[in-house]
Amino acid sequence: MLDEPRILDRHPVERLDDYVASGGGDGFRTALDAGPEATLAQVEASGLRGRGGAGFPTGTKWRSVLRYASPDLSTTVVVNAAEGEPGSFKDRMLLRTNPYRVLEGALIAAYALGTDEVVVATKATFGPENARLRTAIAEIDAAGWAEELGIDLVEGPSLYLYGEETGLLEVLEGRQPFPRIAPPWRRGIDDEGEATALAGGVEMATADGETEEPPVLVNNVETFANVPAILAKGADWFRERGTTASPGTALVTVSGHSARAAVAEIELGTPLNEVLHRVGGGAAEGAIIGVMPGVSVPIIPASLLDVPLSYEALAEVGSGFGAGALWVLDETTDPVAVAAGVSQFLAVESCGQCTPCKQDGEAVAVALGRLLRADERSGDQALNAARDHLATVADGARCSLASQHEQVVGSLLALFPDEVEAYRVGARAARAPELIAPIVDLQGEEVVLDDNQATKQPDWTHGSEDSGAAPADRINQRSDA
Ligand SMILES: Cc1cc2nc3c(=O)[nH]c(=O)nc-3n(C[C@H](O)[C@H](O)[C@H](O)COP(=O)(O)O)c2cc1C
Ligand code: SF4
Repeated sequence: MLDEPRILDRHPVERLDDYVASGGGDGFRTALDAGPEATLAQVEASGLRGRGGAGFPTGTKWRSVLRYASPDLSTTVVVNAAEGEPGSFKDRMLLRTNPYRVLEGALIAAYALGTDEVVVATKATFGPENARLRTAIAEIDAAGWAEELGIDLVEGPSLYLYGEETGLLEVLEGRQPFPRIAPPWRRGIDDEGEATALAGGVEMATADGETEEPPVLVNNVETFANVPAILAKGADWFRERGTTASPGTALVTVSGHSARAAVAEIELGTPLNEVLHRVGGGAAEGAIIGVMPGVSVPIIPASLLDVPLSYEALAEVGSGFGAGALWVLDETTDPVAVAAGVSQFLAVESCGQCTPCKQDGEAVAVALGRLLRADERSGDQALNAARDHLATVADGARCSLASQHEQVVGSLLALFPDEVEAYRVGARAARAPELIAPIVDLQGEEVVLDDNQATKQPDWTHGSEDSGAAPADRINQRSDA
């Protein structure tokens, strides 16, 4: 969508030599000439914000990680390439198109933070991306870019929580992706793999180096892809695009009930409507009735489709940019079936370390499933149960999956009262929830969804029956035995 894309090359870059011929490596060289502090200052000045979902300022994160560095053990730089947000395919598109840009960004971070270890965390199922990364890492090693450090590729499980940064660190230590209490800049990777960091009271990195615990820097694939050009061309150049609070460009994935599915690079601040039409061709049928930014932030209603795609403007309308996953609802979409599908996805993916997230989450999914099959007698009960359990699902939650459940499902029910009412009074034909699942491929103008999601049980098995045990209990019991 941009005349001059900054991070998503028009054609796949097949070899490191081709990348270098088009300016690849300039950012890393500029960083080495400038020194670690000037490199970090340039990233801070750029105002780059993390593209993994929360939009956290990247320079501020790098500065914190540096402050908590261990006196003895190296910090690790982790590329979060676990992309599992329903409706998102942009990280895999970047890796398929040009893995060198992402790796160069991670090398610049490693240099700025004085680290000797980079880990790229993908999923075992990401075949084409893993193949491209393996080749790119070998080429970068052979070219001597990574002389002082090691770049590892870790291929993790197909679980949504593996993308959550502390769940990801648990996987790097050989366990399941159960989110931790301690954030990555306070608790990194224990190479011995002995102490689980799930509980409170574990030793953490400190700003004054009192412990030897090292922190970890975790950034998203797309975040790292922005870094080389920031170094090569400067923070002022980076800020020539986008808005003051959301500088630069960003990738979006348009899918759901759009005319076509696509990934594109847009200038931050472009009106949502323009992006939906130019990238996704508008609605599949009729008009767009809403947009779901993945399953992480509330729905954007049709009345707000002219909102600029920036972190600040989307927050102002009560939603968010998330990971740029724009899942379109058209006039044929049943928002109650979408709510039930989102609830089903999040209830299944919840790990169960926090009882309300798993139990109330499952109860919401069951109640919405019942609402979709309700007659005039059972509708009230199903809707009340869904609302009651939504009110408590996020109580005491350790990570944000639970509040995502509350907000995304809550916003769908609130924005489409007529559809909810029709099911409540039994005036709609019974139907199944809409499948809400991660994208496994983008073929032409269509996405392929992970249909394994449809048979996944809340205990994370694929058997015909759920054991009733939360993954955190089932898996811990097994490892205790
Ligand atoms: C349930 C859940 C799933 C997540 N999945 C991903 C993911 O697949 N990829 C990703 O980069 N970030 C994901 N995140 C966000 C990460 O925890 C983290 O904020 C991000 O990797 C930080 O990188 P950034 O600062 O560059 O955005 C997820 C968060 C949650 C709560
Ligand atoms: S909020 Fe949910 S997904 Fe997150 S740690 Fe607690 S139980 Fe697990």
